[in-house]
Amino acid sequence: MEVKFKIFRFNPKRDKAPRFDTFTVEASLNDRILDCLNKIRWEQDGSLAYRMSCGHGICGSDGMTVNGVASLACQKLVKDYDHTKDILIEPLQFFPVVKDLVVDMTPFFQKMKVIHPSSGTDVTDVEEGKELKQTIEDRALFDDAIKCIMCACCTSSCPVVLKEEPEFIGPAAVLRAQRYIFDSKVKDVLDRLKIMEKPHGVWSCKSYFKCTEVCPKRIKVTEAILQTKRKILRELHPTGT
Ligand code: FES
Repeated sequence: MEVKFKIFRFNPKRDKAPRFDTFTVEASLNDRILDCLNKIRWEQDGSLAYRMSCGHGICGSDGMTVNGVASLACQKLVKDYDHTKDILIEPLQFFPVVKDLVVDMTPFFQKMKVIHPSSGTDVTDVEEGKELKQTIEDRALFDDAIKCIMCACCTSSCPVVLKEEPEFIGPAAVLRAQRYIFDSKVKDVLDRLKIMEKPHGVWSCKSYFKCTEVCPKRIKVTEAILQTKRKILRELHPTGT
């Protein structure tokens, strides 16, 4: 079966403007989009640039926009799309393009850095030789958040980041903060809550749910953001002030 791909091409060092190239690939319904990109690079155009590493939804490096939706190319199959039409492949939105489908992730990691308070240590002090216990229920409070592979699909799909407030730290950073805030072994909870309520922090989220829709690990990102907002109200503003 022949499948056509329309792929964003741009080398800012050389090209005046982006363009789209079309490639036809011999593929089966169960081939991954990543398999098709590999075929194109190996057999048709070795200059096509994209990131990949594990090939199995673990490393998060092959985030890209497929038919308008941020996705991991290794998790999407040809049969997930209408393959009678061109499948459109573009870089993740919001991030500057380095080349073709490779984006500069610096803004993403800068947003992540914000959640680490400069004061205090993370893990609650433990008496030497003593086990630091955590109940199953306590551990479950951040079970979902630790599945994040930092692919940036959520940040690249967030309408607040894209259209309203590019400075918003974004869903992935709030999710990472939630992981620490709800971990009973971490002690600087209040510091993180205070960071979260600064301008461009958690209150910028308008619960569009786009992050939850696109997350390749099926993390309930919006729910984690709402939990963080509720925790701020409980811990920092118990009297409603
Ligand atoms: S290549 Fe690692 S997540 Fe897709």
